[in-house]
Amino acid sequence: MIRFYVTTPIYYVNDIPHIGHAYTTIAADILARYNRLKDNEVFFLTGTDEHGQKVEKAAKERGKTPKEHADIMVENFKNLWKKLNISNDAFIRTTDIEHIKTVQGLLQMLFERGEIEKRSYAGWYCVPDERFWTEKDLIEGNCPDCGRPVEQIQEENYFFLMSKYQGRLIRHIEENPAYILPETRKNEVLGFLKNNTLGDLCISRPKQRLSWGIPLPFDDNFVTYVWFDALVNYFSATRYLIPKNLKSQISNLKSTDWWPANHHIIGKDILTTHAVYWSTMLMALNFPLPGNIFAHGWWTVDGKKMSKSIGNVVDPNAMADKYGVDAFRYFLFREVPFGLDGDFSEDALIRRINTDLANDLGNLLSRFLTMAEKYFDGRINLIASTDEFVEKCVKTNENIHKEEYWSRLSFNLILESIWQMIGDANNYIAQKEPWKLAKSNLEELKIVIYNIWNSLRLTAISIYPFMPNTAEKMWKQLGLKSLKEEAIFQWEWKPDYEVKVSKGEQLFPRIEKKEEKQKSEQKKEKTKMTEGVKELIAIDDFAKVELKVGKVVAAEKVEKSEKLLKLKVDIGEERQIVAGIAKSYTPDDLIGKKIVVVANLKPAKLMGIESHGMLLAATDEEGRLSVLTLDREVKQGARVK
Ligand code: MSP
Repeated sequence: MIRFYVTTPIYYVNDIPHIGHAYTTIAADILARYNRLKDNEVFFLTGTDEHGQKVEKAAKERGKTPKEHADIMVENFKNLWKKLNISNDAFIRTTDIEHIKTVQGLLQMLFERGEIEKRSYAGWYCVPDERFWTEKDLIEGNCPDCGRPVEQIQEENYFFLMSKYQGRLIRHIEENPAYILPETRKNEVLGFLKNNTLGDLCISRPKQRLSWGIPLPFDDNFVTYVWFDALVNYFSATRYLIPKNLKSQISNLKSTDWWPANHHIIGKDILTTHAVYWSTMLMALNFPLPGNIFAHGWWTVDGKKMSKSIGNVVDPNAMADKYGVDAFRYFLFREVPFGLDGDFSEDALIRRINTDLANDLGNLLSRFLTMAEKYFDGRINLIASTDEFVEKCVKTNENIHKEEYWSRLSFNLILESIWQMIGDANNYIAQKEPWKLAKSNLEELKIVIYNIWNSLRLTAISIYPFMPNTAEKMWKQLGLKSLKEEAIFQWEWKPDYEVKVSKGEQLFPRIEKKEEKQKSEQKKEKTKMTEGVKELIAIDDFAKVELKVGKVVAAEKVEKSEKLLKLKVDIGEERQIVAGIAKSYTPDDLIGKKIVVVANLKPAKLMGIESHGMLLAATDEEGRLSVLTLDREVKQGARVK
């Protein structure tokens, strides 16, 4: 068993959580869940950053003490993580007394070793912004941030002698290619380190300027710079927040064995603090460095930077309520390669839900379950038999679990592979036409059904880290009990199972887009308006329409079409009919049904496929179709008058 430790940044409690916070935390959750499936011993840490100027200021504005303010704000994060199904093992707050003690202990250690020094510091200070600038930062002598005049201030402060680690840091990054990912970010850090002289880091703030911080253990007139305090959280958590049950599961693993972390997942804006400050702090402490720092990109919203003043901040709570937690989680990691910037829009999210989730995955599961129930009463037996589809699944499955994808956090490539498996299963059904095998070859049908079942089982396991609820739902419908408990290491093709599947609720109902809704409403309006003035027809006119009873003998989806199904209908003779009903019916819903067909319609081509006739259907208020069927048993071919 391997131990696996993953972290998120600790979030400032001056803000309410938005999509950026959710993004990093879900990414860490995906890794944590995946590693638990591998039976690794996982410690997944998140938390809040509660000291410093920003928090002190936000608290003041609300008339609260910083701690009172933090106690309120921290709940927003905790509640959101619950809602988003985040499986963190611990939650650290930098106001925890144990953390404060650890920070002070480390500071003392560095001070005694001569790694921290008191120096006089002169700089340009912007009073309203409460921050220092160097001469070259200034714009026409003013603060580059707010444009107001700055003052020259001289004060004493403590400095961590970071500069002396410059060479060692460059070497570490070069010798460990996965230390900073993605590659482009690594190159940025290296470029910076090689072309600049690294300065020392001011790690204190005089108390008269900022009181909300951890007092320096060796000088009570100062508090610790918030980043020095915050970064230490990753280490201090291993000293007091490892759950007891984790430690006990690995023999001889002590809490001191949890450092270093395997992955620090962060946003690109805080890469320098992690790659440079944190790495050199660890070097000075003689502690091992983390395995990897992964800096992801930023989300814009409908093409614009997310900002409170524009009012386009995406609230993850609202998205989860509106579209479902799993759809939201899926979207964030499928839409954009992890590491790059991306643009969020509800339209894009709806598109993903309708195509990838409702159509590809949801329909596959529901078609399969309908068939399994119809042909075998839901019973699936283990049948060891290999065909081209099985071979493809095994290969795709290897891709999904490729070590390189997971260690480099290539989530979009993993998801693409999972959807490859789903697509292959859909094609397999189209190619094998189980409804035909049901008549001609039950033995083969059994194998086909088993193979689809097994590919769906593997799909459920592989989507679990991304969409845990959906995976569990699938698992149950596939006749199994608890994915979390049963799926550990079960991603081989041939398990020893005999199960009974049962169709449950739809995984992802389709979402009608605003424009589609508007269109169908306009259409309804139009019909209403014209209804009153419609001309009446004579009985002879109606008699021209030849309506017949037909029995659907085969049905399949038309490739690349969301709406069309290709049917074979027996109306005394066999007819091919292409009908726009795929949003309301799966092929299996229709097979065997007796319907009403317009038999003397001129043939037409729909998406290149000939259609010889038309079926009758009514539309309900939501635009869903209901195919006309017969009240009593009537033979196919009978005339409808
Ligand atoms: N408190 C520090 C982190 C200390 S870690 C030792 C902090 N907190 S934060 O709350 O401001 O930001 C947390 C994370 O949110 C960062 O990783 C940041 O990249 C991420 N995001 C903030 N806005 C974002 C987007 N618009 N898009 C994606 N992520 C972004 O920094």
